[in-house]
Amino acid sequence: MTPMSDGRSRSEALAAQYEAYPYPERDPADEAKRLITGSPSRLAEIDHYLYGGARDWSRPFRVLVAGGGTGDATVMLAQQLAEVAVEAEIVYLDRSAAARAIAEARVAARGLTGVRFVTGSLLEVAGLAPGPFDYVDCCGVLHHLDDPAAGLAALTGVLAEDGGLGIMVYAPYGRSGVYELQAALRQLGRDLPLDRRLALARRLLAGLPTTNRFAANRLIGDHRRGDAELVDLLLNPVDRAFSVPELAGLVAGAGLTIASFVEPVRYEPRLYLADPALRARCDGLPPIEQAALAERLAGNMKTHVAYLARRPGTVARLDGPDWVPQLIEIDARTLAASLERKGAISGTVDGLDITLPVPPLAAAVAGEIDDRRTLGEIVADLRRRRPELAEASLVQAAQALLATLGGLNKLLLRRA
Ligand SMILES: C[S@@+](CC[C@H](N)C(=O)[O-])C[C@H]1O[C@@H](n2cnc3c(N)ncnc32)[C@H](O)[C@@H]1O
Repeated sequence: MTPMSDGRSRSEALAAQYEAYPYPERDPADEAKRLITGSPSRLAEIDHYLYGGARDWSRPFRVLVAGGGTGDATVMLAQQLAEVAVEAEIVYLDRSAAARAIAEARVAARGLTGVRFVTGSLLEVAGLAPGPFDYVDCCGVLHHLDDPAAGLAALTGVLAEDGGLGIMVYAPYGRSGVYELQAALRQLGRDLPLDRRLALARRLLAGLPTTNRFAANRLIGDHRRGDAELVDLLLNPVDRAFSVPELAGLVAGAGLTIASFVEPVRYEPRLYLADPALRARCDGLPPIEQAALAERLAGNMKTHVAYLARRPGTVARLDGPDWVPQLIEIDARTLAASLERKGAISGTVDGLDITLPVPPLAAAVAGEIDDRRTLGEIVADLRRRRPELAEASLVQAAQALLATLGGLNKLLLRRA
């Protein structure tokens, strides 16, 4: 362990940072106004990516939120599980007592139950919060450990045999400029307390040369949100990024497999290659190499969100009509109108404009998705109303639409 200039280990300095600046900055009063949602750890994602879209939710569900911070994942999971009335226990674990106090206040503000709060290191999870857990959330934590492999091994040790993890780790290329700015700030302020280094960082950011890679990186804005965010980004004593091959090595070392990255389509090099000769070359690569190539070509990935399982084959696959499609944070009618107009799904992902064409009939299918009917029922209902539409064309359009939206993590599948 490399000591800091004040004699503390890097891990102790990290602990002190999250005690002084619990991350992310959250006000429990805001729970009355909004629910923060995201990936990993949406219930529908857990089902789709880790349980083949077929988890039996009448069975109890045990969750560990490892490095839970100020409570985003804990609150989201507890709220979702309460809404679908699943018998569940969530264990929140973090080293920071300050972060825990905020997470507890947020859970209390929503009147949520079934959450147990534990203060301690995830490296000691087996003693602090024994498994088995059906699901482990570890978002933005492994890259802050001196030994991420030991962290992932500890979490895998409390995972149920058929359980899975949802993780987020930093990725190198989208964080261009971050690491040299961290090093520059260490040079300028390593002898100062954290609050004074924060002030220095603000001065430095105000006058960076335009050629500085951080100044030129339009993808990163965390430091503009607040003190905790700036400290976490630029003054963090333990921070490393994982390229796709490095992450694959970490995951394999724990005896796990990457069930899926989120959003999956961003890890397909075809998204970034128009030239047929190049496309043909990359089609022959194994999936993880394709993902590594996609990361290198895109250049805009700041993080990797991934679901991990013990064995391959946990992701739901559309293999017939008996699947219920569920839209994520899009309204079916708005989607249908947009597809009608553009004939494609388009948007900007971390600075990159993407346009994914879908067949003309996809608009009609999109307008019917209601998180209730199966694909087969949707097609049958459409044909009852519009008998002129051929079943085969509708099915083909539906498959194309579901695959495209699925690639963007905007549509997930559940077994009927
Ligand atoms: C960047 S924050 C992420 C918080 C939360 N997971 C989120 O995504 O909002 C990292 C958190 O990990 C916690 N942490 C760091 N090392 C830890 C360890 N060894 N055991 C438990 N928690 C740890 C910190 O205290 C901090 O709250």
